Amino acid sequence: MRHLMSPLDLSTEELEKILDLASDIEKDPKKYAHLCDDKRLATLFYEPSTRTRLSFEAAMMNLGGKVLGFSSADSSSASKGESVADTIRVVSCYADICAMRHPKEGAPLVASLASNIPVINAGDGGHQHPTQTLTDLLTIRSLHGRLDNLTIGLCGDLKFGRTVHSLIEALVRYKNVRFILISPEELRIPSYIREDVLKRNNIEFQEVERLEEAIPALDILYMTRVQKERFFNEEDYVRMKDFYILDKAKLELAKEDMYILHPLPRVNEIAVEVDSDPRAAYFKQVQYGVYVRMALILTLLEVELPC
Ligand code: NCD
Repeated sequence: MRHLMSPLDLSTEELEKILDLASDIEKDPKKYAHLCDDKRLATLFYEPSTRTRLSFEAAMMNLGGKVLGFSSADSSSASKGESVADTIRVVSCYADICAMRHPKEGAPLVASLASNIPVINAGDGGHQHPTQTLTDLLTIRSLHGRLDNLTIGLCGDLKFGRTVHSLIEALVRYKNVRFILISPEELRIPSYIREDVLKRNNIEFQEVERLEEAIPALDILYMTRVQKERFFNEEDYVRMKDFYILDKAKLELAKEDMYILHPLPRVNEIAVEVDSDPRAAYFKQVQYGVYVRMALILTLLEVELPC
């Protein structure tokens, strides 16, 4: 049985297969509409979410399957003290596959060890968010036609932003990918990403503070929200939250084909005036998230695909 905890649980070949499948789903969704008619997905969300939970649910429904679950720890037996291991044992009796989001790093991994059904990490603390990465990769590949030979700028909260950590881990496996890491000093990427992922793989990267300095070289600008819920005090958050605001003026410095991605939710880091720019791809990215989660569900459930 396969689980998905990190994008590295998939080889680049497996990943490519999932992205190809997602692209085929995009072209002809009807072909896939009944492949999970007899299947159920459980969404166990111990932390708030709009896109991730709803896109998992939409993905399963698009495949003809059913969904069940909870959307906050308060409404589950976690509030009575149940462990994730016990919860997943119980949920294994109700569902065929599960997506779990948890504020504690590693909680979905603990669940997967006790589970009889595939567990997908839908975000664990400030650690990993592999299905957002699949979404990001599909979006980049669809827009640029490739995942290699790219200069990627990651901007904002690189310390707590789990989507950033997962995306870097996945992208270093492609040739000639360079990173410009744009953050305030206090929100730089964690040292395990700098040392064990970037340096160990001899990846070219720069760490800068000014967005304007980085923008002209980029093929992708990945904006992120300052992760309020992971700050220890409100004061630090307030000081950081509007550090970056991408607006039309800054966008003038960018290439014609520099696409803007954001895992969403956006707070202030992208001005609404940018939404109408053809390079703004963050709402398109949401749609790709559904196709790629459909492809992932089919893959983990080993559903036989139509030819
Ligand atoms: C991200 C997350 O939850 O990590 N959102 C998402 O899943 N699309 C990013 C965020 O919350 O800022």
